[in-house]
Amino acid sequence: MIYPSTIAIDGPAGSGKSSVCSALAAEFQYLFVDTGAFYRAVTLAAIRADLMAAGETAIAALAERCDFDISKDHYDDDVYTIWLNGEDVTETVRTPHVERHVSEVARMSAVRDTLNMKYRQLAKRGKVIMAGRDIGTVVLPDADLKIYLDASAEVRAIRRALQREAAGLPADYATILNTMRERDRIDSTRTVAPMLRPADAVYVNSDTMTMEQVIETLKQIIRTWKPANEGVE
Ligand code: DC
Repeated sequence: MIYPSTIAIDGPAGSGKSSVCSALAAEFQYLFVDTGAFYRAVTLAAIRADLMAAGETAIAALAERCDFDISKDHYDDDVYTIWLNGEDVTETVRTPHVERHVSEVARMSAVRDTLNMKYRQLAKRGKVIMAGRDIGTVVLPDADLKIYLDASAEVRAIRRALQREAAGLPADYATILNTMRERDRIDSTRTVAPMLRPADAVYVNSDTMTMEQVIETLKQIIRTWKPANEGVE
């Protein structure tokens, strides 16, 4: 069986990309490159260097000096470890402090240019599944397989509320829904790399599916994938 070398998965916040990509990477032995985690790592580096107020040029220069990497987790093969200058920052990049500043950093085009080069290098390793907002459109426009994973804001807010409840965190549905809509608005209307659905992506709307069904649907898409030039002499 031939597998795609590069898979691009885009979609809005809370559409389940991370869980789905972790499961797919484990099943088919891909490296899962979660591009949001790199924006978070740059943000962490900028906070530590006290550069958050220093502006785009300083933060982009810092990003260029940093050494970022991502690897399959050493202990559990369905998640990744994210490295910043040799330090495992997988947990640290998820803290509220980083969360508060990350969208500001992700809007900086000079930072995006630096990270996009890094993502393209990682894709060259082959058997990479890359998730984000602009992977199929900007980062890997020639990806072998593109999937756009969608879900309505209402359904994503319910899922997020249930996750938070299970973790013992405050989970007010109306507040979560408003935040979700606001984040969608920012992600899709920003001038730098707005979230767009690639015209050549397979569209999957998960509103009426369980996570298991979404994973199964995507596994089937990967298993039945054929190279674009198959049959061409
Ligand atoms: O998916 P996430 O929440 O970890 O993403 C963190 C931030 O990075 C969020 O503001 C969206 C942004 N992002 C982006 O602009 N482009 C990507 N390819 C991935 C994430």
